[in-house]
Amino acid sequence: MKVIFFSTQSYDKTFFELHNKDYGFTLEFLDVPLNEKTAALATGAEAVCVFVNDKVNAAVLEKLATQDVRLVALRCAGFNQVDLAAAARLHMPVVRVPAYSPHAVAEHAVAMLMTLNRKIHKAYNRIREQNFSLAGLLGFDLYGKTVAVIGTGNIGQVFCKIMLGFGCRVLAFDVVEQEAMKQAGVTYAPLHDILPQADILSLHCPLNEHTRYLINHDTLDRMKKGAMLINTSRGGLIDTRSVIRALKSEQLGALAIDVYEQEESLFFRDLSDHIITDDVLMRLMSFPNVLVTAHQGFFTQEALTQIAQVTLGNLKAFVEKTPLLNEVKQV
Ligand code: NAI
Repeated sequence: MKVIFFSTQSYDKTFFELHNKDYGFTLEFLDVPLNEKTAALATGAEAVCVFVNDKVNAAVLEKLATQDVRLVALRCAGFNQVDLAAAARLHMPVVRVPAYSPHAVAEHAVAMLMTLNRKIHKAYNRIREQNFSLAGLLGFDLYGKTVAVIGTGNIGQVFCKIMLGFGCRVLAFDVVEQEAMKQAGVTYAPLHDILPQADILSLHCPLNEHTRYLINHDTLDRMKKGAMLINTSRGGLIDTRSVIRALKSEQLGALAIDVYEQEESLFFRDLSDHIITDDVLMRLMSFPNVLVTAHQGFFTQEALTQIAQVTLGNLKAFVEKTPLLNEVKQV
């Protein structure tokens, strides 16, 4: 089977080629993203393999279907970029990698929290310039602080456990409560109850019609003044303009984001020689208490290995007509 990869980075090619030795698929790697203009490049392939910022809307799926593409393989967990109703209508299964090292993302969220709190990014630059002053680097003990987690699925659960290990009080909100988390010491409560209590709020729920702009003017207003917000989930969970207002008024004390709503035109490429026209992101990056990473939460050796192995396994199941255990369907 021939599979065309969109939005390929060098590391995708390395890991997929390595593990494809066990499968023998014909893999073709394109660096362009999938969208209405590039869908034609999938001609001759039975499957496309796409990532978080590829556009898999109805128009793209229809184009793919007319070219006899029969499967969409996501090499990621989130599937908010796919029109699942259109895929079902076109009888085109969509498979994903439901969990690939939840530790990778949870640990990155913790790394961002720690960096922002203890100002490691500033200390690193300062020391390199022989400035050994501590002024402006004051942080706080995590021990005893209240951490709120929205979404206690694979990643949220790992994050909760790490925070419990730090000696934090952990509150959580999820539409499905996990007994194991309660046993571990996590207290579930409605969103409006946990917002005013949290010193740190970390988002680990998917982006869907219920969670879009979960963090908005009202929810920010309900948060404890000066709290820290961490988003390693999806950019659309946050109304960035409201967050900027809250940072300006100091209602929000600090922000760490690994994802950004408009990230598809920026992330995963070197734009150091370009003029960035996204004024919202540039305003965000001008705050001293904002830390931005470019969707690197998943980026560990273990996660890339699992992404390649599970995706190739999904393709194999499709070819062999065995049950697609990792299929995503519209609920
Ligand atoms: P998961 O599906 O295991 O867990 C998601 C949790 O969110 C579930 O417990 C679900 O019940 C809960 N949830 C759903 N709707 C909710 C709502 N309205 N309010 C509160 N909770 C709700 O997903 P997993 O693997 O933990 O991933 C979470 C998110 O992390 C993904 O959706 C994806 O967007 C993001 N992600 C980010 C990566 C990165 O590199 N930064 C890499 C992988 C995932």
